Amino acid sequence: MHRTPTSQSPIGIFDSGVGGLTVLKAMQKLLPSEQLLYFGDTARVPYGTKSQVTIRRYAEEDTRILLRHQPKMIIVACNTVSALALDVVEKTADPLPVLGVLEAGADLAVKITRNRRIGIIGTQATICSNAYARAITEASPDTEVFSTPCPLFVPLAEEGMLNNEATRLIAGEYLAPLLAEGIDTLVLGCTHYPILRTVIEKTAGPGVHIIDSAEAVAARAAAMLQNSAMEAARTEPPVPHLMVSDLPQKFSTLYRLFMNTSIPDVELVEV
Ligand code: DGL
Repeated sequence: MHRTPTSQSPIGIFDSGVGGLTVLKAMQKLLPSEQLLYFGDTARVPYGTKSQVTIRRYAEEDTRILLRHQPKMIIVACNTVSALALDVVEKTADPLPVLGVLEAGADLAVKITRNRRIGIIGTQATICSNAYARAITEASPDTEVFSTPCPLFVPLAEEGMLNNEATRLIAGEYLAPLLAEGIDTLVLGCTHYPILRTVIEKTAGPGVHIIDSAEAVAARAAAMLQNSAMEAARTEPPVPHLMVSDLPQKFSTLYRLFMNTSIPDVELVEV
């Protein structure tokens, strides 16, 4: 049965796996009174190497899993889904508001750049979709966008190789062509990349402003809740409700690594 959401209803967040925890973390920081509901599709990750047809089917199924819990808003933490299937999520969740990381990151990059040369890094699917470049040039037609996929960053983050020699070398290889274009702003267009932020930041150098789409989407969610008077009122920060489609134990281990806190129960759901 579909009930009208209230301000105390949860906010649903989904990602292809653990990477979206960067969005969960940013949301907890900015909106500590909100009940957060997180679904990570750990059975079918990665999405970034799959076809558009498959990504769109997964996006609809993931949205339906969150809808079972009557959320008041849906946040697409996965850049790949934001790039290729945001319309599917909007249609499935209608009339609920839906926010994607991509629009939030693109908008912030346009506000921050001074020389109008923006770099984008993301999965193969996100970069091939050209969705970031489209969003940026729509908002600011005279801005130039330089993009490159960084597929090895996802396994490096998942292996916890956050600040070592191999990660530094790979970051150097990936970022060199963008830096050669004189970018002054770099968008971390994949959920996992904020986890490698220290290395990425050092490689890019002090002249490049790093945009974390996770922080950008959390700021948008906060503004949207305030404008619609839908902010939750609670005295204690609630424990997030976590769901995954496979390997809850592995998720718990990565949760500790990414979030630096103890682990709430993780529910296994079927996809
Ligand atoms: N969550 C994906 C993204 O932000 C990265 C991992 C994947 O390929 O599924 O694009």
